[in-house]
Amino acid sequence: MTKPLRVALAGLGTVGGGVIRLIDANRELIARRAGRPIEVVAVSARDRAKDRGVDISRFTWVDDTAALANHAEADVVVELVGGSDGPALALARATLAAGKGFVTANKAMMAHHGLELAEAAEAKGTALKFEAAVAGGVPVIKSLREGAAANEIGRVYGILNGTCNFILSKMEAEGRGFDEVLAEAQALGYAEADPSFDIDGVDAAHKLSILASLAFGTRPAFGQVEVTGIRHVIAADIAEAAALGFRVRLVGIAEAGAHGLFQRVHPHLVPLDHPLAHVVGSTNAVVAEGNYVGRLLFQGAGAGDGPTASAVVADLIDIARGEFGPPYAMPAASLNELPVADSGERRGRAYLRFTVPDKVGVLAEIAAAMRDAGVSIESLIQRGAAEDGSVLVAIVTHEVQERAVAQALEKLRGSQSVAGQPMWMPLLGG
Ligand code: NDP
Ligand code: HSE
Repeated sequence: MTKPLRVALAGLGTVGGGVIRLIDANRELIARRAGRPIEVVAVSARDRAKDRGVDISRFTWVDDTAALANHAEADVVVELVGGSDGPALALARATLAAGKGFVTANKAMMAHHGLELAEAAEAKGTALKFEAAVAGGVPVIKSLREGAAANEIGRVYGILNGTCNFILSKMEAEGRGFDEVLAEAQALGYAEADPSFDIDGVDAAHKLSILASLAFGTRPAFGQVEVTGIRHVIAADIAEAAALGFRVRLVGIAEAGAHGLFQRVHPHLVPLDHPLAHVVGSTNAVVAEGNYVGRLLFQGAGAGDGPTASAVVADLIDIARGEFGPPYAMPAASLNELPVADSGERRGRAYLRFTVPDKVGVLAEIAAAMRDAGVSIESLIQRGAAEDGSVLVAIVTHEVQERAVAQALEKLRGSQSVAGQPMWMPLLGG
């Protein structure tokens, strides 16, 4: 057997610990598949004394994470620290500048700096791999880069955040509160260090921008993603959606075409006959529509130590085999730039939820705002008065331009008939 691929590992938390455990457990199999052993030689994190649940005394400890880039014994660096900038980015730049392979699970960094890092990797002819950055253990990046590479892909969409899906599906199935389920997701290692990245949709947007770039051959454009998270989804939305034959899911959608590039993360109502409605817990699922292959569905564990480590080590196996190409499947210089598509032009059905006082004329005012904007109502549910006298009105519209729905909501802004912010969610079509 040829000489091992020697790994310097930055970050020993959920994923870093998972990588060490996986390499320990599957060492022989990995060596046979990779054609040579994969060995961790050096590690770095913040606190050397912390109990990691794995023996790290056998590795060289490096205090300065950035120094791993030039560690004499390492061929490749794995970054599992996190954060779009700071030590993760410094390590990425230094490693690629040194001409060494770099593997990361860091979608925030890839979303913000992926193009720069890809150019740096290409300039040195080295590997930049980030399978774990999207959909955890699901090999969707490899599938788009390689398996579906012959296709023009018009649309890619899916459930891209395990924490949000865990929260939404637990709230629905078990009737539990948002905060309680979020705390469980954190304890299970699914959530980001700052969980607002999960629940405000930013993490899913990071992933969507990476997927879009791979799917469409466009420059990563995270700044153009329209982002709304699940913070304002209430139990009543989930219940009304169920009554109407839908489930609430945080879905990221990207489309490329004559209209430009559309990228949005938003809670959606997903019809029960759509596969995404049946994705529960921390599972992720991605649909890609290719012009020859048709609809592809990738599904599996989207977060957690084991699945994420699986993706990281798969990248290492590719590097050990010498199998890597341009990070975005084509040279960074070949990636296109598309104009931003106008989301107001999109057509579809929509869910609207209002909290209103229980008094005469309220429904008429909402209906008039809809009529004036040209929004036709398909179904409407009104739930009896709560203790504070408020009533919940849930509406599903017929297919309509999003601009018209926005106009109707604008018309109701400040109205005495509507308390608080109405909720708008698109219905997932196609
Ligand atoms: P953790 O918070 O569990 O671990 C982070 C690790 O980085 C810790 O070991 C920590 O050190 C170390 N670290 C933090 N700040 C610094 C610093 N300034 N200098 C050196 N080391 C530092 O994170 P995860 O393992 O969950 O996530 C790691 C990466 O993987 C992130 O980019 C995340 O987005 C991504 N990811 C996570 C998934 C998951 O399910 N958890 C799934 C897919 C991707 P110490 O332990 O000493 O405090
Ligand atoms: N916090 C992320 C999630 C981890 O919940 O999906 C996986 O990327």
